[in-house]
Amino acid sequence: AAPLRPPPVRVRDDADLDDGRKRVTVFFGTQTGTAEGFAKAMAEEAKARYEKVVFRVVDLDDYAAEDDEYEEKLKKETFALFFLATYGDGEPTDNAARFYKWFTEGKEKEAWLKDFNYAVFGLGNRQYEHFNKVAVVVDELLLDFGGKRLVPCGLGDDDQCIEDDFTAWKELVWPELDQLLRDDDDTTGASTPYTAAIPEYRIVFIDKSDSVFEDKSWTLANGNGVIDAQHPCRSNVALRKELHKPASDRSCIHLEFDISGTGLVYETGDHVGVYAENSIETVEQAETLLGLSPDTVFSIHADAEDGSPRKGGSLAPPFPSPCTLRTALLRYADLLSSPKKAALTALAAHASDLTEAERLRFLASPAGKDEYAQWIVASQRSLIEVMAAFPSAKPPLGVFFAAVAPRLQPRFYSISSSPKMASSRIHVTCALVYGPTPTERIHQGVCSTWMKNTLPLEYSEECSWAPIFVRQSNFKLPADPSTPVIMIGPGTGLAPFRGFLQERLALKKSGVELGTSVLFFGCRNREMDYIYEDELQNFLTEGALSELVVAYSREGPAKEYVQHKMVEKATEIWNVISQGGYLYVCGDAKGMAKDVHRVLHTIVQKQGSLDSSKTELYVKNLQMEGRYLRDVW
Ligand code: 2AM
Repeated sequence: AAPLRPPPVRVRDDADLDDGRKRVTVFFGTQTGTAEGFAKAMAEEAKARYEKVVFRVVDLDDYAAEDDEYEEKLKKETFALFFLATYGDGEPTDNAARFYKWFTEGKEKEAWLKDFNYAVFGLGNRQYEHFNKVAVVVDELLLDFGGKRLVPCGLGDDDQCIEDDFTAWKELVWPELDQLLRDDDDTTGASTPYTAAIPEYRIVFIDKSDSVFEDKSWTLANGNGVIDAQHPCRSNVALRKELHKPASDRSCIHLEFDISGTGLVYETGDHVGVYAENSIETVEQAETLLGLSPDTVFSIHADAEDGSPRKGGSLAPPFPSPCTLRTALLRYADLLSSPKKAALTALAAHASDLTEAERLRFLASPAGKDEYAQWIVASQRSLIEVMAAFPSAKPPLGVFFAAVAPRLQPRFYSISSSPKMASSRIHVTCALVYGPTPTERIHQGVCSTWMKNTLPLEYSEECSWAPIFVRQSNFKLPADPSTPVIMIGPGTGLAPFRGFLQERLALKKSGVELGTSVLFFGCRNREMDYIYEDELQNFLTEGALSELVVAYSREGPAKEYVQHKMVEKATEIWNVISQGGYLYVCGDAKGMAKDVHRVLHTIVQKQGSLDSSKTELYVKNLQMEGRYLRDVW
């Protein structure tokens, strides 16, 4: 099977070659591909500007096989650009995690970088507390280690238009690079405005009669030795049930993936990544808009016909093929996110109606910035909505998959089971994403909708399945089960704690002595969305849980949230943390986790009789010691 994200091309390590040419390394830490896309776009444009300079785009994980190698190699660099995304609770992307850990942990602040010119662009979202933390930290440390910062760290904000932030930052970088990279006799670039080529895959259409090979690549054992985001394994849906009570007008699904025979293993507190399918309605719309039949069979290639890499591209195909258009759209195309400006440019290039082409170009241009922010971003217009508004824009498949529709990304869920109770199952607790957008479209989350509509194995052998993989987390119970724990998880934030409690119950049954545990759970109304109520009661009865505190936000006249309950239990919380206990928070990062964080400060300040700077330090230390852990999104 072809990997799902093209593996980075292993570049010949010619950094040491001394042919007198200057070398620039463009590093990226990417999760969904945006940082990687920016890195490549920057390098492409730079190549056009400075013909004599060598640009390498490098995945941070591939740069060095071992930690020591990072230092060794970085010391030899003279020009470096970094594109670094920040996720969740201020964390680096998976492919930057090893570099980030090595770079930030316990290094002396001495100037070991000599003649090292650098610039950092961060990708983050301002709605989160640790906005662009990874980029900012790396930018600062590079300076501490002796680097020469060319421009201030770029703070890309995905809540607005991150492409604009990137463009603005690039404009600051060019004059600096011009000074450093341009030779006296170099007359290229700069004066002529650069237009990026629209990327395109090579498509080979195949006679339909031979289309039964499909999905053969998705066997249970994926045959790769590793199971990760690039090499997920197929897993059947064994069971599905609704967790909300009949009185609720929303939905929350409990889903169980059968992982027996897949080789997949997990630990309590890990995450599962799920590649879901688009709904058939969405895909049918896309087929109509593309003007192609669903059973069009094709293969897709990133290389040129003679096998050589295409300009700026890698050799790996974007997804396994041959396949039908139906499968490609179901599994691999993100059709419901708002299109990026680059996608609008690609659509414009293939719009036969000139007015449509012009309007698309305007929306993607600096002059159309406000219009784009309003008509696309604020209106939450999906790609198919936009395509429907420009019916003459019919990009060929190679352009559609390379430049218009991004790859459908896996969705991550905190696993809600423990292997001690369910070793051959991965349980997921997923709230349905469903609601009207400003254009009165009903937005239905891709993965939660898929989960809600799955056909579980208990009803049919032809059950639903998905490619899945496990991502390890450090959200783990204390090694010593007698350590007291406090868990705070309203709504689906309860998920990992259900796993924790299953684990504690299993330990208890095997005779292990448990420390106290308190769970703060929150929901709207006992009769609607109190999920896993019976199970929680059972954990209490069995002694896996010592105390259950529930906040109902829509039962009484006033909102009652978990943090209000925490204030009531301030002494208990203080006793647990001051005696070496652990505190866990899981759920919404933008609202709940921020508020809980603030309330925790208040509790520590009052109970510990500390001033505000000591309080700050106390909570920081809890985090550093790994006793205040957050799994937030
Ligand atoms: P609400 O929807 O009534 O505002 C699970 O989603 C629970 O978390 C709900 O009861 C929800 O209440 C509540 N919730 C919403 N915002 C919150 C916040 N900032 N802090 C804590 N709980 C919150």
